Amino acid sequence: MLTTLSRKIIMALTGLFLCLFLVIHLLGNLQLFLPTEEARLQFNWYSHLLSGNILIKIISYVLYLSILLHVIDSVIITLKNKRPAPRYQYDQRGRASKWYSRNMGILGTIILIFLVIHFKDFWYSYKFGNMPVDSKGQKDLYQIVVTAFQEWWYVVLYVIAMIALCYHLIHGITSAFRTLGLYHPKYVRWIKYFGLAFSVIICAAFALIPIYIFFTMK
Ligand code: HEM
Repeated sequence: MLTTLSRKIIMALTGLFLCLFLVIHLLGNLQLFLPTEEARLQFNWYSHLLSGNILIKIISYVLYLSILLHVIDSVIITLKNKRPAPRYQYDQRGRASKWYSRNMGILGTIILIFLVIHFKDFWYSYKFGNMPVDSKGQKDLYQIVVTAFQEWWYVVLYVIAMIALCYHLIHGITSAFRTLGLYHPKYVRWIKYFGLAFSVIICAAFALIPIYIFFTMK
């Protein structure tokens, strides 16, 4: 049986790995901001390159495993924390902690729902769906993404998910550093600033993609 501490260490390590994935995923998706035809060929070529590479395949399996472990451990830790506290103890966390720190489970659930929809519409379509092809005969994933973001409600869904992800990361990054014992009092302020800047920049950039596509492409 794993202890709560080892589960928290697994959550911290998988969470930081997922943050690294977010940076790489965002860099790839920034190609969507290029002029239409250039974006189409480059984005499709990039997706093709990733899907054919054995090293990327192995990293992808590590990624799926990390998402699974992160979710499973969070559910187990949340359920443990929900057990009634011994008598004479009462919950004072509300006084010191921020609302998003106390609602990591709800924020995580919104992100999980987002991921299920995201996987179904993009990942599943790319791997197993009936895809259109571009002028170079590559699967036209660009067209699938642009078509999805023509619907206003779909854009709203992405923006809501990115707001949830932002708060989840703000708490998650500082929490991970604390769990891993890297939270030296001297650096507390800098870790907090780093976590805040990272979360806001990454999530704002992700949210801008559907907004940009919705308003500029028909
Ligand atoms: C507007 C923002 C986003 C766009 C346009 C986008 C686009 C895509 C596309 C087209 C794919 C399929 C590519 C493939 O499987 O080769 C994909 C896969 C994926 N996306 Fe996103 N994504 C966005 C945001 C996010 C966010 C915020 C997360 C995480 C919270 C995320 C997590 C993933 C994961 C885990 C995969 C599977 C990767 C793999 O199979 O290796 N995406 N995304």
